[in-house]
Amino acid sequence: MIPQDFLQQLLDRTDIVAVIERYVPLKKAGANYQARCPFHNEKSPSFSVSPTKQFYHCFGCGAHGTAITFLMEHAGIPFVEAVKDLAGQVGMQVPDDGNRRPPEEESRREKMFERMEAAATHYRKGLKGNEKVVDYLKKRGLTGETAARFGIGYAPEGWQGLREALAAGFADYADPLLAEIGLVITNEDKRYDRFRDRVMFPIRNERGQTIAFGGRVIGAGEPKYLNSPETPLFHKGRELYGLYEHRRAIQGESQVVVVEGYMDVVMLDQHGVQNAVATLGTAITADQATRLLRLADDVVFAFDGDNAGRKAAWRALENSLPQIQDGKRLSFLFLPEGEDPDSYVRAQGADAFRALCDRAMPLSDFLFAEITAQTDLGSQEGQVRLAKLMEPYLDKLVQAPLLKRMLQQRLAGLTGLEAPRAERGKSGPRGAPEQRSPQGRAAVQPSAWQIALQAVLHDTTRATRMAELPESERPEAVALATLVALLREHPELSTRDIVEHFRGREEQTVLEHAAAGLLAWDEDYDVEADFQGALNTLSAQAGRAQARELSGRKPSELSPEEKLRLLAALQRRKPDPT
Ligand code: UTP
Ligand code: MN
Repeated sequence: MIPQDFLQQLLDRTDIVAVIERYVPLKKAGANYQARCPFHNEKSPSFSVSPTKQFYHCFGCGAHGTAITFLMEHAGIPFVEAVKDLAGQVGMQVPDDGNRRPPEEESRREKMFERMEAAATHYRKGLKGNEKVVDYLKKRGLTGETAARFGIGYAPEGWQGLREALAAGFADYADPLLAEIGLVITNEDKRYDRFRDRVMFPIRNERGQTIAFGGRVIGAGEPKYLNSPETPLFHKGRELYGLYEHRRAIQGESQVVVVEGYMDVVMLDQHGVQNAVATLGTAITADQATRLLRLADDVVFAFDGDNAGRKAAWRALENSLPQIQDGKRLSFLFLPEGEDPDSYVRAQGADAFRALCDRAMPLSDFLFAEITAQTDLGSQEGQVRLAKLMEPYLDKLVQAPLLKRMLQQRLAGLTGLEAPRAERGKSGPRGAPEQRSPQGRAAVQPSAWQIALQAVLHDTTRATRMAELPESERPEAVALATLVALLREHPELSTRDIVEHFRGREEQTVLEHAAAGLLAWDEDYDVEADFQGALNTLSAQAGRAQARELSGRKPSELSPEEKLRLLAALQRRKPDPT
């Protein structure tokens, strides 16, 4: 953990424009700087950097963040590395007391990596000249070249194969780190190799360091795949197999295909499909979805055509909805029964597989197909049920207002219920800068919550001027309440400090998105007027809710204090906008 005040000082001394300029030539355009986005392929510049907000945002692919985020995303390095890099640039020393992540800790990690690398080398050597294994892999159609590219190896039979492999160098077999990184298993005072007589797939992080292994039995046997456990180096909900090898291809094609198995990635690669990655035996997590959506505009999830595949696809959909931004395309590919990408590409070739990807079912169709299957659209009750069931999913689309509206319209077509309009009315926001779609066309009006949130991010002193807010579970409402509470305690925080403060927390997505939206503002936009308008709207809503609640009770049951509140609420109340 790096202390917050260090981070703040670091960001104070850092200029995001200079940081980004190290990698991308920037051109001044009005108050901001512009460039062609380094995170996706584009012809005209939609990447914008604000020197005042110290924040970047791409209107094409939605990438956004602080100088730290930029380094993490662009160089593919972890948070701590990015902080160290920046600190080095401005001559600051990252404190290593903090929460005890001292040099010993760092060198422990180094040692873990060393041991992983030694094991990977040992396994690779184990494959050479081993007829049984080479035959097995050849039968599966794998070439030596592909095996080498992915560092595939073989863990020989025998209980302590790693003993010799490590003794030659730097560690002995009793080294506790070996258990910590999951290479050996300890049982009372016995120790033995976790992986024995298995084909070994090294799992690499984005910098190419081996952090875990998946080991397959040769032929039949249980478990088919044995994987490294969760270790300090490896969190399976975060990593994606093949991302290191395929990062460039994915960015180049702006498309990524997410498959289920190691062999799928490897065999697709061998046949020329070099933009696939695999999850590691789990449903895709929000974290993984975010990483993929930052690299590519088009994410195809490939699943087996059976029931298990559909279930896995649904979980992928649920975890991805909050991460989708307008302009991104998510789709679902269900392979013919009994096939997986490996068998399919071997039988039909790369072009046939790519054609399947291009025809994959769009997320919206999959969502509607699954939900309508649970309802009877022939009855009005069924239509209401559909609307009810759909609501929580649409609410998850916090970063894709356009997509959300289109889905609402589609829902309206099925239910006959009217789709909600963008908020307006006398007390509503007027003339707010509209969210821009990638082409710069105006699209949806932001909600009063969004306006208030952005206005506070724009000028944090506004946090002291918040009126009473209605209760709401909308993500923007929750984020606004949390933000205001934070600013009351720490009025000194700036936009980028705030965004860094929420890194890894629930509110991160909404806040980053709101901060990124600031970069779309026209120079003559009257924030203050809209902020006032939004406050009026929200406070009127709160008044109405209170009046409803209090007037629903018998006057005799109200305490004098509640009667006063009711009176005040009725005065504050404005007519519902119609
Ligand atoms: P599959 O059973 O579909 O295997 O599991 P596969 O990738 O097609 O492998 P081959 O072609 O039979 O060699 C898909 C993924 O699920 C995880 C692995 O990550 C595997 O690649 N898995 C599967 C396990 O972790 N453990 C298992 O026992 C099975
Ligand atoms: Mn398979």
